[in-house]
Amino acid sequence: MRQKLLIATTNNGKIAEFRFLLRSLPFELTTPTEEGKVLQVEETGVTFKDNAVIKASAYAAEFGMMALADDSGIEVEALGGRPGVYSARYGGEHLTDEGRVELLLHEMKAVPWEKRAAAFKAVIAVAWPDGRILTREGIMNGTVNLTPVGDNGFGYDPIFYLAEYNATTAQLTSKQKNLLSHRSKATEGILKALLSEFG
Ligand code: IMP
Repeated sequence: MRQKLLIATTNNGKIAEFRFLLRSLPFELTTPTEEGKVLQVEETGVTFKDNAVIKASAYAAEFGMMALADDSGIEVEALGGRPGVYSARYGGEHLTDEGRVELLLHEMKAVPWEKRAAAFKAVIAVAWPDGRILTREGIMNGTVNLTPVGDNGFGYDPIFYLAEYNATTAQLTSKQKNLLSHRSKATEGILKALLSEFG
């Protein structure tokens, strides 16, 4: 029987993306739902790496198998790196993605184009039940657009402008974005590390 690797998320979009990106690994990919139990893990870390490790370790310990988790968000230079690890909760839990985009644009109102640099960052952690941890980071650089444009993607995609495409990430197809994204870069790093050990 092949060893199991638990994709420690209940987000179906992420599960589909990881299943595709990690398909060459010699493991049986499984999910909390398939294993019959979902954990509520509090993201108490102050970095993406902290939170990815907290989630992966909690799942690995509880399920007794290798577990993979990610944490990601947007860092805006003019805001000293905010919202960062708080990207999903920026402005409070009650806000929608649109509300968070509005709030960010409002905070950036007085910031000129050349000072609107931002980065999407993702860290993926794999944890083993014996405490071993592997992490990799992926970064995509861009600019906070002046207005929201495009309706593909989610979160801050409508205001994440890429000069090389003259488009926001919400105007790219998911295939295009997957080739560039912070999450796919971090996943590639993890894939390479796992393949060199188990491939
Ligand atoms: P988490 O990694 O699921 O904890 O959430 C990260 C949050 O960062 C999301 O809710 C989005 O607001 C934001 N984020 C992360 N990656 C992306 C992306 O690729 N596009 C748009 N927003 C993103």
